[in-house]
Amino acid sequence: MLMGRGPSTAGTPAAATLERLHGLGLDAEYLRCDVTDAAAVAGAVACVVARHGRVDALIHGAGVVEDAFIAFTPAASFKRVVATKVTGLKNLLDAATPHGLHTVLSLSSLAAVLGNVGQVSYCAANRAMAAATHAWAAARPGRRGLVLWLPPVAGAGMAESEDVREQLRMRGLDDGFLQLGEVAAVVRQELLASPATAARWSCCARRPAWLPLLACARTHLPPICCPLRPVF
Ligand SMILES: NC(=O)c1ccc[n+]([C@@H]2O[C@H](COP(=O)([O-])OP(=O)(O)OC[C@H]3O[C@@H](n4cnc5c(N)ncnc54)[C@H](OP(=O)(O)O)[C@@H]3O)[C@@H](O)[C@H]2O)c1
Repeated sequence: MLMGRGPSTAGTPAAATLERLHGLGLDAEYLRCDVTDAAAVAGAVACVVARHGRVDALIHGAGVVEDAFIAFTPAASFKRVVATKVTGLKNLLDAATPHGLHTVLSLSSLAAVLGNVGQVSYCAANRAMAAATHAWAAARPGRRGLVLWLPPVAGAGMAESEDVREQLRMRGLDDGFLQLGEVAAVVRQELLASPATAARWSCCARRPAWLPLLACARTHLPPICCPLRPVF
């Protein structure tokens, strides 16, 4: 079951995604829902439960980018970016936890570990979402809360732009992108991993370019960020 705010009529990204998934033989459906709206999320989850009887796993990937220097970030913009990640996760967990939810995987960003110019809202949102994912699992033995700290992804999505490429080039991180297929592989790997790894934050910075930055960041991270485990 996929969710998003946009329509899924012909020609939309949601329709294209559904078509690809159906082509692979998957029984995928799309529910139009704003994750920041608690009532809408409760309704969508009720719909899933009515059709399938339970909710096993949740991948929280909703996110918006409204980059700006702190001085030029309106409070409303900060709230939108944080609410999509944090309120969205809370609403999904509140609605789905009573229906058998045992695995939560949140898509966070390496920027939330390393920091990034103009991304205070996005970094705060991703850090808070990661902590909330961790706390959900830590309070429920036997359930899994996983966080992926992703570097920019090439091929599709919010970082697929010449601006981001240029920023990485300027920082000597030309090789910092993950390919879409690598993200799919690591999501699959983490979802299928042993429940013994119940609550963890996994860092997908496969490219060597990121490693010195991460080594430095690790020494400054609060204990809740540990273990920050490289998955490649
Ligand atoms: N791509 C990267 O390089 C990268 C790197 C690190 C982390 N991440 C994280 O990975 C996740 C997915 O990234 P992406 O590149 O696929 O982003 P994307 O292409 O911009 O997609 C974001 C998705 O979030 C949905 N969304 C936004 N606000 C929503 C809301 N209030 N309710 C429901 N759905 C909402 C959007 O659908 P609608 O507009 O239809 O609502 C869209 O499908 C994000 O959380 C991002 O922070 C991505």
